[in-house]
Amino acid sequence: MNSLAALSNEFRSIFNTAKTPRIFFAPGRINLIGEHTDYNGGHVFPASISYGTYALGVKRDDQIIRFYSMNFPEMGVIECSLSDLAFAQSHSWVNYPKGMFHFMKEAGHQIVHGADILFYGNIPHGAGLSSSASIELATGVLLKGLFDLEMESIPMIKLGQKVENEYIGVNSGIMDQFAIGMGKEDHAILLHCKTLEYKYAPFVLKDHVMIIINTNKQRTLAGSKYNERRAQCEEALSDLQREISLRCLGDLTIEAFEANKHLIQYELNQKRAKHVVYENARTLEAREKLQQGDLAGFGKLMNESHLSLRDDYEVTGLELDTIVQTAWEQDGVLGARMTGAGFGGCAIAIVEKESADDVKKNVSAVYRKTVGYEATFYTAAIGDGAKEIERGVVI
Ligand code: GLA
Repeated sequence: MNSLAALSNEFRSIFNTAKTPRIFFAPGRINLIGEHTDYNGGHVFPASISYGTYALGVKRDDQIIRFYSMNFPEMGVIECSLSDLAFAQSHSWVNYPKGMFHFMKEAGHQIVHGADILFYGNIPHGAGLSSSASIELATGVLLKGLFDLEMESIPMIKLGQKVENEYIGVNSGIMDQFAIGMGKEDHAILLHCKTLEYKYAPFVLKDHVMIIINTNKQRTLAGSKYNERRAQCEEALSDLQREISLRCLGDLTIEAFEANKHLIQYELNQKRAKHVVYENARTLEAREKLQQGDLAGFGKLMNESHLSLRDDYEVTGLELDTIVQTAWEQDGVLGARMTGAGFGGCAIAIVEKESADDVKKNVSAVYRKTVGYEATFYTAAIGDGAKEIERGVVI
């Protein structure tokens, strides 16, 4: 555990300064339902969580930017200049904040001085809870604060996605940056990714808790498989567009999909498109169930979502399936599914408070036996989106 005062002290010691840094925070996110629908112009239903990235910064008088992460101390301080913000393989994690500097400058924002910046993240790394989007948005709010920039959240969110797509090279959608930029305590966000229209939905579980379960599976191929799924959806869309007028798969109703699916040439691409269309419909239905207070109905849709991601989109794998399928067998579990891109990463489960310990114990034992190593469990609070924070908080 770190206090903000301890982070400030670390900042002063790393950068050898007496100055007091300003402190910014961007959360991670979970997605309740609506997976792999964002880049297809469909709906998603994410929420920002209390784990996230702290960014502490002080403006400099020159053009130098110095970055340090308490999560990668072995890499030391990494330095670059405002005049050379090109992607550099050797800069590793620093490419995320550097990419934000690059695109914010390119968008015309007056960033004419360098800065010293320290990051500390408590999102489990590589767990599919969007640690990268969290660093991007933490950098965005820090730059806005330090350089007094006029900038609304949505343009900042779009620049975060641009870093991912054009700088890092992952063709991801807008969901992660949106959830992190627009998050609200105790609320999930229903977002239409084509139009960016959104609505907040209260997400308070009362007698239940949301458990996040990390597979701890290393996801080295996530980027390339992710891009492959996206390309398959694009192929399915262009097959359909030869015969029918359609902007994106997210605009297809289930009925229209069933009537036209024969137009999609490859059976595999048909399965991918089927997931997107049905998942989009499930996401809208899930929000209604939540509004009606029908948590059991919501949980059932989570389960259906996982099955579709397992069988039609094929992004789950032994680790996520073991966790989710074991969770389904436990008393007190209303619903469980993978969350995020898949291929490892995390699952989420809605569980009765009094059953939570037993669920963790049982899922943990089956996972260890089947997969050979441990899963990790977290209980998430739904917190606010990216912002400057007050002093004195314990994190
Ligand atoms: C990753 C991407 C998101 C989204 C999800 C899958 O988290 O960054 O844009 O596509 O996968 O729903």
